[in-house]
Amino acid sequence: MIAMARIARLSDVLINKIAAGEVVERPASVVKELVENSLDAGSSTIRVDLAGGGVDRIIISDDGHGMGRHDATLCLERHATSKLRELDDLFHIDSMGFRGEAVPAIASVSRFSLHTAEVGADVGTRVTLEGGVDPLIEDAPPRTGTVITVEDLFFNVPARRKFLRRGDTELKHAEEAVVRLALANPEVGFFATHEGNELFSSAACPEDPRERIAAALGPAAHPHLFPVEERRLGVSVTGYAASPEFTFPNARGLYTFVNRRYVRDRGLIGTIQRAYQDFLAAGRQPVVVLHIDVDPIAVDVNVHPQKLEVRFSDARGVQEAISAALNRMLRAAPWLGAGADPNGPGGNQPRDAAHYALAVERFLTRAQEASWGAPLPTTLDAASGGAPSHALSGAPGPMVGIPSSLPFGAVGRPPAFGEAQPQLNEAPPPGYFAALRPMGLLGGRFHLCEGPGGTLVVLDPHAALERTRLTTYLRALDDAKGPPAPSLFGTTLEFPVQVAKALVEGREALSRLGVDVEPFGGTTVALKTVPPGLEGADARSLLEALARALPPKGAALDSVTLAEAVRVMACHAARKAGSVPLTDAQLRALLGELDRADFHPPCIHGTVVVLEMPLLELERRAR
Ligand SMILES: Nc1ncnc2c1ncn2[C@@H]1O[C@H](COP(=O)(O)OP(=O)(O)OP(=O)(O)O)[C@@H](O)[C@H]1O
Ligand SMILES: [Mg+2]
Repeated sequence: MIAMARIARLSDVLINKIAAGEVVERPASVVKELVENSLDAGSSTIRVDLAGGGVDRIIISDDGHGMGRHDATLCLERHATSKLRELDDLFHIDSMGFRGEAVPAIASVSRFSLHTAEVGADVGTRVTLEGGVDPLIEDAPPRTGTVITVEDLFFNVPARRKFLRRGDTELKHAEEAVVRLALANPEVGFFATHEGNELFSSAACPEDPRERIAAALGPAAHPHLFPVEERRLGVSVTGYAASPEFTFPNARGLYTFVNRRYVRDRGLIGTIQRAYQDFLAAGRQPVVVLHIDVDPIAVDVNVHPQKLEVRFSDARGVQEAISAALNRMLRAAPWLGAGADPNGPGGNQPRDAAHYALAVERFLTRAQEASWGAPLPTTLDAASGGAPSHALSGAPGPMVGIPSSLPFGAVGRPPAFGEAQPQLNEAPPPGYFAALRPMGLLGGRFHLCEGPGGTLVVLDPHAALERTRLTTYLRALDDAKGPPAPSLFGTTLEFPVQVAKALVEGREALSRLGVDVEPFGGTTVALKTVPPGLEGADARSLLEALARALPPKGAALDSVTLAEAVRVMACHAARKAGSVPLTDAQLRALLGELDRADFHPPCIHGTVVVLEMPLLELERRAR
């Protein structure tokens, strides 16, 4: 008897249909994939014309580099891509597509045609096929770019066609897909229609991306949008954020893009919402369009079939950069005009001090940039060529103050002006701080010191205090004996119901941190004790911040929550103490404490404790 074969190879057509199940969910996914291809082809204008909510017809036309006959045929084959040649490339993805999957998958579940030509060719190519089989390849007039027409989506997969939504739901999704792509690419013109009616229209606006945001969210948004920017080692956050005066009742004005890819990541959205929480009324959501750019090697985009989620190698660093970018804008309150009070809502730093910090940072960055490529002192060499997240690797390394000593070399390009910000939360060599020789005060706030080998060291006392406080509080938390003898505080404060409730329900957690609160009738809470270092802190803002850090009722009190609360306390302790310049004796004591501090746990603002400028660098510049 002849044995029946149980295993047979699937045909390519069937494989494409299965892949279509992942890549092509609905018309919106077709729009997204095809527009991404147009973007990858370097187009400057992209048109999307829909009929029947995109189910009946989707036409994407671009003016990109087009395809020759060979590529136009090959792109319909699975895993045919011009964008990825080797496994190594998978970790350096800088195009939107890389799998060579989208076109064949879409073609397998539709009536598909493409018309394309290479730049300068006398003849173009048209390829037509139904259900992904028997492509008809013909000559066609030459043209600039590519037009792809996708008709009767899922005509040959009735089960899927049935799942498409009625009414204008599919259209809404397709429109949103266009909006996301348009927000990500303001230097490309986007025009979309549905059965002749305009859906979206925005010419390229590289000069003022706010025009694009206004096209997406309504012209009323434009005057309320302010630029935000934070560039750090390995991550840049740029974009526009609306003042708290312009909000939505839902999160539809929140857009985040990672390396130009729209993502909807709970961590990123949560970080944005937290930055705004002191400014917005309950139930209102901020309007923020943020572009997060990281080295492609530091982000994995291949974790989701539709590339909607990403995984950062340094998620915390990214969140800190976002908070810093938004906090700076919100604190400066540019919507209040020139007369803005920097100590107004959310402000805690005199504006000129912040200015000064920026100036020092710029100076160091520029000096560093001038030395790009020059050999660096040996103490800093150890940090070069490592992984991009060196500063967070936990490996004890030298104090790194000069960005070029950090692994930008590995990325192969020097940092742009103002881009590099040293990430200094690293363990310094033992005794580093005690050996510093204080020389004076800069800008009434920064301490200048002479470090090993004549290195100029700029110390930020606020960041330093926060670091030492954080260490003390974390150690106390680990200590079985409980918090150190608390200071008596004794004050009563009235809070909004939610805050009062969170504080009273979180009493147990708070007492483990050395903060004793008691209900005092109504929504009044008595604060009895605080841990050392927090005497004299602003009790109201401290308790409000702690209330936010506490877990909701019933949720487990884990070490993550406690650590968050500890960070809040450290930040407030530093805020209070950092407002007046330190005396010599206080500075000495602080330096001693810094040598015992733990530089690994992140603090709230990810602040930099010291910046270093090696003597060698100064000498080189003096020459
Ligand atoms: N509009 C276009 N202009 C020029 N070339 C295109 C266009 N659309 C597709 N191509 C070519 O066809 C190839 C296949 O496209 P397809 O979308 O299937 O794969 P991909 O973009 O490489 O990867 P992914 O499946 O991740 O999107 C692309 O690599 C590109 O070379
Ligand atoms: Mg593609």
